[in-house]
Amino acid sequence: MRAIEQQALDRYRDRFGAEPELVASAPGRVNLIGEHTDYSGGFVLPCAIDRRIAVALGRGDGGFASTAFPETRSFAGKDDSWADYPRGVAWALADAGFTIPTFQAAFAGDVPQAAGLSSSAAIESATALALDQLLQLGIPRRRLALLGQRAENAFVGVNCGIMDQYASLLCQAGSALLIDCRSLDAEVIPLELDRHGLTLLVGDSRVKRGLGATAYNERRASCEAAAGTLGVPQLRDASLDDLAKLSGVTLQRARHVVTENARVLAAVAALRSDDFATFGRLMDESHASLRDDFAVSVPELDTFVDAADQAGALGSRLTGAGFGGCAIALVPSALVESVSSAVSTAYRERGFVEPVFYVFRPSPGAEIAGTGQ
Ligand code: GLA
Repeated sequence: MRAIEQQALDRYRDRFGAEPELVASAPGRVNLIGEHTDYSGGFVLPCAIDRRIAVALGRGDGGFASTAFPETRSFAGKDDSWADYPRGVAWALADAGFTIPTFQAAFAGDVPQAAGLSSSAAIESATALALDQLLQLGIPRRRLALLGQRAENAFVGVNCGIMDQYASLLCQAGSALLIDCRSLDAEVIPLELDRHGLTLLVGDSRVKRGLGATAYNERRASCEAAAGTLGVPQLRDASLDDLAKLSGVTLQRARHVVTENARVLAAVAALRSDDFATFGRLMDESHASLRDDFAVSVPELDTFVDAADQAGALGSRLTGAGFGGCAIALVPSALVESVSSAVSTAYRERGFVEPVFYVFRPSPGAEIAGTGQ
């Protein structure tokens, strides 16, 4: 059992004075490339990180406890807190016709919160897998991911795409996951950075996504409007030539999505042929497109990218929704220290809050850690 799973187990015993029926956990993620494409039916390439949310769970009406917060929250209701994620999953399962008994649960996690590393998808995915196992529902993981997304869209009220829940449930150790968000097919793509002397350096800009949810929903609406103008179901179906029919901001938003989809496929081809120089260039192009056309970057993320590239990264880009959160850089392992310190210096010069750096290992998706005695 992982340490984080043991913490959830201990919290359950402390809080409820009983043994849970099972313990499960699910990871956060970083997205290597393919940003703001999932809700247009496009391609994304996330990988799960070695930071997880664990849940110890059993039937009962003791509510939800967490090692991160002192309070216990009820099973029923909705209160705009972290407890809305497990509640939302229970609601989505019930709404899909499954009989869900009242359950109690304790959570523990080490996914940095509000950093764009998908801690909410990790809670949803851990809860969904735990309930599936507890109740022997036999729901395939892809459907569990869709139910997690439904919890987020219809219960929590965030209009996210499918990437984060898919990554949290379907990623495998040492690999990234190419997701076709139209067909919902997912393919495991080996990511052997160590073998090539490379490291994926992640930097948290420490900018919290204040207006993020509103701006995210606006971007999504622009993409849907652009598809409507072009007469295609989703921007996945648009080509570069089609874009000539658009203008202004709509053109910019659509151009990002169309070019980003092409970049994901090129990036996967580059990974398959160990061409990391090309992979890095595509990361840089992705960032420029997110900054200039999709307008979801902030000065802190641009500074990370510029400083990392100047200090020897093969490429770098913001990851996740943008408006703050994290950036990633593909760095020769020998340069990790100097790239991080170049970014820190650039932040200091501009008066930004000191960034936080992480190096994650590509990790397995959600797992059942153990069943009760
Ligand atoms: C958030 C959403 C995802 C995806 C990304 C942007 O992480 O939850 O569905 O849209 O933003 O690529």
